[in-house]
Amino acid sequence: MELFRKKSMDYMLQQANGKKGLQKALGAFDLTMLGIGAVIGTGIFVLTGVVAANSAGPAIILSFIFSGLACAFAALCYSEFASMIPASGSAYTYSYTTFGELIAWILGWDLILEYGLACSVVASGWSAYFQELLRGFDLQLPALFSGAYNPAKGSYVDLMAVAIVFLLSAVLLTGVKESSRINDIMVIIKIAVVLLFIVVGVFYVRPSNWSPFMPFGFNGVVQGAATAFLAYIGFDAVSSASEEVRNPQRDMPIGILSSLAVCMVLYIAVSAVLTGMIPYTKLNVGDPVAFALRFVHQNWAAGFVSLGAILGITTVLFVMMYGQTRLFFAISRDGLLPKGISKLTDKAKTPTRSIILTWLMATVFSAVIPLNQLAELTNIGTLFAFIVVSLGVIVLRHTRPDIKRNFRVPFVPVIPALAVLTCGYLMINLSKITWIGFLIWFAIGMVIYFSYGYRHSVLGNIEKQISEPSQIRSGN
Ligand code: ALA
Repeated sequence: MELFRKKSMDYMLQQANGKKGLQKALGAFDLTMLGIGAVIGTGIFVLTGVVAANSAGPAIILSFIFSGLACAFAALCYSEFASMIPASGSAYTYSYTTFGELIAWILGWDLILEYGLACSVVASGWSAYFQELLRGFDLQLPALFSGAYNPAKGSYVDLMAVAIVFLLSAVLLTGVKESSRINDIMVIIKIAVVLLFIVVGVFYVRPSNWSPFMPFGFNGVVQGAATAFLAYIGFDAVSSASEEVRNPQRDMPIGILSSLAVCMVLYIAVSAVLTGMIPYTKLNVGDPVAFALRFVHQNWAAGFVSLGAILGITTVLFVMMYGQTRLFFAISRDGLLPKGISKLTDKAKTPTRSIILTWLMATVFSAVIPLNQLAELTNIGTLFAFIVVSLGVIVLRHTRPDIKRNFRVPFVPVIPALAVLTCGYLMINLSKITWIGFLIWFAIGMVIYFSYGYRHSVLGNIEKQISEPSQIRSGN
């Protein structure tokens, strides 16, 4: 059936191997740094407060363990695909070969939502910390521009989020790629401020703040996990580096899993200290980690944490925006979105239009939609992608057992099934409004595919030419 036309795996492998191979320079340590650089950001510096105050209470610690486990199962599945198909486009590309075009489009469209919203969510977090830093210098933005649309608070547009998205789009337009050296420095700063918070904060922990531990019950813990899940997003960036890894079989799973493990340990420690320092009811603020330090009058440490958070969140935002431009590019090159989007406009081969589209999307979303709604929508898109990729591992083991897998998920189908179950469970715990948003997005995607993508698909047109060579030749 044409809806399920697939990119042949052999063709993709040829493409990947036919290219002048990228230098295989990365090892497990570099991958871990890459992962941490792409992961630690708004989730830990901002969402912890929202989740502790509104969903989980001090049991946010358990929320982080639960969502970390769901990610770990999915991460193993990503590793297998990455070691098999070293091509850009991540989950979108994987599913084009596994499930065919329709599912690939659904996933690609879903990932546009994920990355587009992740950019916006991370930009909002950046803005919260930046404004806090400004306040330290007695500078304050007019309320009108201080946050997303919330007439009750008098805010209409998050100006600082708009500004950072604009700045990073400009950087992307110059064609500058994040160098791994800058990334390493940022990661070290990030880990340092998180450790600073833990080391200073631990002296102000009052165990009475941990009681009640589960004020919203087990439901609250799971809902918290579904929202806090955002804190782990980004490790799939590691899987897209597989072509540049010296020994993918060994290094890929180590890189992905150890970056997840480091983040999980840091998240658990931060949320334990945070909820121990300050009653969880007070944590519904934009910069909870710095706020807690100010609460115990450690303003100097709060200043460092704010600065580190701003730098750290910037790298996450950069990776997310970069990912989004790549995705637009890959989908449009396949003809499922207008070809013009993937046009490279100058000698430096910058995908200018993909960047402009990314900029527009991130600006509109981050300017007006409040952060936790953005976070939930991001998560639902990501969880869906994790489920499809995990199912893909099981399917391909049956349909193409012959392909060389540099890394194999252990205990198939148990681990992929666990990924599907845990991610699915988190999905059903997201709010109704998030589901409605997701389904509307899905419906728009279907309309675009059947009115445009299906007919313009590059793969579809190649197949048509092969099956009707005489008509094409005689017709033209
Ligand atoms: N994991 C990323 C963050 O927390 C999206 O900012």
